[in-house]
Amino acid sequence: MPHSSAEPAAVLAPIIDVYLDADDWRPALRTDVRRGFADRPKHLPPKWFYDDRGSQLFDRITRLPEYYLTRREREILATSASQIAAASAADTLVELGSGTSEKTRVLLDALWASGRLKRTIGFDVSEGTLRTAASELAAEYPGVEVRGVVGDFDRHLDRIPRAGARLIAFLGSTIGNFAPVHRARFLAELAGTMDGDDSLLLGTDLVKDPARLEAAYNDAEGISHEFNKNVLHVLNRELQADFDVDAFEHVARYEPEHEWIWSGLRSRREQTVTIAALDMTVTFAADEMLHTEVSAKFRLDGLREELAAVGLHVTGHWTDPAGDYGLTLAQPR
Ligand code: AVJ
Repeated sequence: MPHSSAEPAAVLAPIIDVYLDADDWRPALRTDVRRGFADRPKHLPPKWFYDDRGSQLFDRITRLPEYYLTRREREILATSASQIAAASAADTLVELGSGTSEKTRVLLDALWASGRLKRTIGFDVSEGTLRTAASELAAEYPGVEVRGVVGDFDRHLDRIPRAGARLIAFLGSTIGNFAPVHRARFLAELAGTMDGDDSLLLGTDLVKDPARLEAAYNDAEGISHEFNKNVLHVLNRELQADFDVDAFEHVARYEPEHEWIWSGLRSRREQTVTIAALDMTVTFAADEMLHTEVSAKFRLDGLREELAAVGLHVTGHWTDPAGDYGLTLAQPR
């Protein structure tokens, strides 16, 4: 445990509930690939970008000059965390997709300063990441109960402990990756687990000049390109596929009718790919697209409606001075 002997004995051991095994993702990958390659256009869910290399590439994206999202969210948190903490009146922080819990600390510090903080709960698919973050938080916030839930958004939201008045943070505009139907279902399920004194803090990228949106997903250094193509490396390794990664080209464009960035990989030529683990061959026509991600952009009005549809009403909204990014707080009516 990384706490010093000068620390009072009040450091509590984290409690981690595990609902996902280390190999649980394997059958899901196989199903997603079988289904996604049978559809037209072919598609894969964005969650398969994130092996170790993909997570590192995403981390580099967050530091690119064009990718303003992460910086803006951090700025808003730095400026407004204490207001958010006060508006929520929470004693418990829940972070969905907590990862290394880096942003969590800003909110935790604000809740701590309010004198109410009792516990923090991380929710993530990665047990290793969650355990490391939990021990660090336990050492940094003595006396605070640290919990973790290893699970995924589609199946385990109802396993998150209901204790306390909770501020449930879902940051990073991750919700933008869900197609509208999936997003509605996710919000309904989440709202269904919320008690009257809970609140939801949602981080969303906002609709803006399409040129800036497209630049954020087509950076000059080509990291977005590598990140998008990483999914092919994942299939090559995990399913013994033989994708010629360089025969695909990154495409990311803003679709104003959907107010989202549509991302995909364009086959540079006609080609056939073998996916040995699935006993499958897949053909691509020249210029055929493999759709890999949507990154939805939001407006406060639209968010208000989507949240109202699941019984949540907006009680606070914070943006950066330029209005690039939003943090929205919502509570059950
Ligand atoms: C982590 C889902 C918010 O959609 O902006 C970054 C992922 N994709 N560049 C986003 C991503 C391409 C990112 N999210």
